[in-house]
Amino acid sequence: MNRLTTSWGAYRLARFPEDPRDTLRAWDAADEYLLRHLHGDDDAPPTDLSGTVAVVGDRWGALVTSLAAHGAGPVTQISDSFLGQQATRVNLDRNGVDPGSVRLLTARQDPPERIDVLLVRVPKSLALLEDQLHRLAPAVHAGTVVVGTGMVTEIHTSTLKLFERILGPTRTSLAVKKARLILCTPDPGLPRAPSPWPLRYALPPDTGVLAGRTVTNHAGIFCAERLDIGTRFFLRHLPRRRGHERVVDLGCGNGVVGTAAALANPEAVVTFTDESYSAVASAEATFGDNVPSGTAEFLVGDGLSGLADGSVDLVLNNPPFHSHRATTDTAARRMFADARRALRSGGELWVVGNRHLGYHVRLKRFFGNCEVVASDPKFVVLRAVRR
Ligand SMILES: C[S@@+](CC[C@H](N)C(=O)[O-])C[C@H]1O[C@@H](n2cnc3c(N)ncnc32)[C@H](O)[C@@H]1O
Repeated sequence: MNRLTTSWGAYRLARFPEDPRDTLRAWDAADEYLLRHLHGDDDAPPTDLSGTVAVVGDRWGALVTSLAAHGAGPVTQISDSFLGQQATRVNLDRNGVDPGSVRLLTARQDPPERIDVLLVRVPKSLALLEDQLHRLAPAVHAGTVVVGTGMVTEIHTSTLKLFERILGPTRTSLAVKKARLILCTPDPGLPRAPSPWPLRYALPPDTGVLAGRTVTNHAGIFCAERLDIGTRFFLRHLPRRRGHERVVDLGCGNGVVGTAAALANPEAVVTFTDESYSAVASAEATFGDNVPSGTAEFLVGDGLSGLADGSVDLVLNNPPFHSHRATTDTAARRMFADARRALRSGGELWVVGNRHLGYHVRLKRFFGNCEVVASDPKFVVLRAVRR
């Protein structure tokens, strides 16, 4: 756990789930710069934070914890991440801030009707930013203070153009510790356009039972604009099974893997699960369009935490290997351990991954066995059996 020092006070903050081996902090220089600006530590006067404050893209709750502890608000956090929301709840609690003082909304819920201060931690995905600004624009009025923040490498001309096009005239601050602010003056007279998201496209011919079928992608989910090449490889090598069984698409993204499993085995009951609200909503739409009479359940959560021990026959998984900009295999390790717990004896975990990630070593350690089902120069599909 680390301590974020601001002009309002110091806060103990951690990511979620907390892992003592994980050295990654729960905030960065972009969050610090924004908080200093709001306090009036740069040339600008302090920001009036007594109105409705909406914070978008606050990764682990560092911004809303600092703001709520300072008495700003009412404060609303808008996040697409279940883990981010959990981190926020824990961080508020560990700093003695009433968790009820911050309203937590998901990216799929309706935003507040009127926003006086809009703070945007620029997301990695430009598409997510575009969708969010479209959804928030009706709540922004001429007097709304709009400030974005991000690392210099995350803010591009295209980022500023989005603010300009959807909200109003925009400029940037000087860079400080490789972070920059986006300062936008809302123009309520701008013509309103609907968000172009979600995006639907037809899958290519080499995707087995899914060939030519349509997939739905909400903004910001993994590979929202085209099929991932690892997923594509996985779709060509999925297990061929028959009969009633419980299958889990773990980290489902747009749900193509679980939908393929349901089409290949109509007796399978598929659970789609992801920590992204938009991913689970996408999977629900993809499954609904392609398997209208199928049975499935859709869970937002951390790994398989909603599933009982020994309750699953087959887990299909394309693990994440990025947490925001950091490369990490923590999520994959946790998913493999969780899959072992949730599988019944004889149940199987199938994983696709880049060869260089060395998942077979991890799987052998967790399961005591691991077989290569398919490989090409870039990817491997691995199978581990719960004994
Ligand atoms: C590499 S993507 C795979 C998506 C999809 N299965 C595919 O192949 O296109 C990994 C997915 O895992 C999800 N994820 C990351 N951490 C998670 C966690 N702790 N619990 C559940 N899902 C998680 C991400 O949101 C992302 O959708």
